[in-house]
Amino acid sequence: MTEVGIDAIEIWTGKLKLDLPNTFAPAKGEDPEKYTKGLGLNASSFPDTYEDIVTMGANAAHRLMEHEGLEPEDIGRIDVATESSFDNSKPVSTYIAGCLERVYDGKFSHANKGERKFACLAGTQSIDDAYNWIKAGRNRGRSALVIATDTALYARNDPGEATQGAGAVAMLISEDPELVTLSTEQGYGSADETDFLKPNQQFPSVDGKRSVQVYLARMREALQDFESVAGRVTVEDFAYGPFHTPFPGMVRKAALFAYRHMTRDTAIEDDLAEEIGRQPREEAFDDDEAYEEALREYMDGLKRTDAYQEWYGRVIDPTLTISRNVGNWYTGSVHLARASALRTAFEEGRDLAGERLMVGSYGSGAQAEIHAETVQDTWEGKIADLTIDQQIEDRYDLSYEEYERVHDVHNHDVDSDVEGEDVEGFTAPAEEFVFDGWGRMGERKYRFAE
Ligand code: CAA
Repeated sequence: MTEVGIDAIEIWTGKLKLDLPNTFAPAKGEDPEKYTKGLGLNASSFPDTYEDIVTMGANAAHRLMEHEGLEPEDIGRIDVATESSFDNSKPVSTYIAGCLERVYDGKFSHANKGERKFACLAGTQSIDDAYNWIKAGRNRGRSALVIATDTALYARNDPGEATQGAGAVAMLISEDPELVTLSTEQGYGSADETDFLKPNQQFPSVDGKRSVQVYLARMREALQDFESVAGRVTVEDFAYGPFHTPFPGMVRKAALFAYRHMTRDTAIEDDLAEEIGRQPREEAFDDDEAYEEALREYMDGLKRTDAYQEWYGRVIDPTLTISRNVGNWYTGSVHLARASALRTAFEEGRDLAGERLMVGSYGSGAQAEIHAETVQDTWEGKIADLTIDQQIEDRYDLSYEEYERVHDVHNHDVDSDVEGEDVEGFTAPAEEFVFDGWGRMGERKYRFAE
């Protein structure tokens, strides 16, 4: 049977940085630890004035094609996942292909291009589309390019402002991939929700506290659905658990629920019973409130146990390293989490070949998806050259006033004509695609800056 999966990845962060504890917190009159400890974030990435979802996506894709020695003819499909699109008709993938055709001799004339939307889930859904296209035998030996690109901005003073971010992850989906193969088994948890949405508006309407509950509920349903096809999941089945990471504190909450679920009726629950008792079972309680209270108490105890902390430190924490320093990249976020884990394994010299990842994606509105991935023998060569640490290091560190200006530059309602034209960039572009002003039909124009 043909195996299909991710053959290569490349990451591009927005080139500006907002330091949350040192710049954002003082301006907001907040305790810096709300960000570092509460949300688990040190900084957010922002696009410079000449960057947007097209330039970040095209730059990530260009790097990936160069690294893999690809030409446009090798690509049969380009899907862009984004929830920051600026056009209700023309897909971002056409802009990105147009950029790439400026630097390659060939064209993407025979590649199928599209744009996928389901909030932050769309990157994973685009991988799914590519998987199905290849499995159906329609790819003619070619690979698919999946690009998750977003500028995750919230309205000023919205509680979500602390979790902003911007960047792109480009992934090559191929037969016999060299990084990870994807499981046939998938689990879904899906419901019509209004936790986070953008009804024809750039910045989201968010019910933040509810969105956290909806994430947890849909993720639980997805895990149960996954188990219904793949069998019971235990804590030792997976080397890492990359999850959608709107902010690391969200994954910290989800991981505790997942651990409780995976250890129920196992020897681990028995071992922990002496220390924190057994897990409360709903049928043993007369009313919901008492059951909820008992659960809270159990979870409080569970998160302090050595067993949980060791598992969390080994399987979950390594997925959060990049996210802590760049914030939420919406569609790209879970793919950053995977890259973060693999890069940690690479740095630690860990032999990961044949090991499995449990990948949990989530999109508001709302739907969660869980599948497994198997790391391939050749994985190290696909991770060794990632430059994300250097990119993070090289970002321009914004003052609060500069941040306000940058937020306005990318705000479509604030005199958008200035974007990229009158407002000087904070960094100098080199060997990359940049925004180059507006065309006569309101289209965005781009060029390659030498
Ligand atoms: N020291 C340590 N911790 C502190 C602290 C301090 N001084 N001050 C606060 N904290 C903790 C709080 O206790 C809280 O932790 P718990 O939830 O574990 O109790 C955490 O820091 C955040 O504090 P608040 O709840 O007071 O923060 P807030 O009200 O400003 O908003 C938020 C938090 C609701 C997540 C908000 O940032 C938000 O709306 N974000 C956008 C929505 C979002 O990301 N939702 C996630 C699920 S939806 C999704 O995943 C899709 C997506 O990508 C958007």
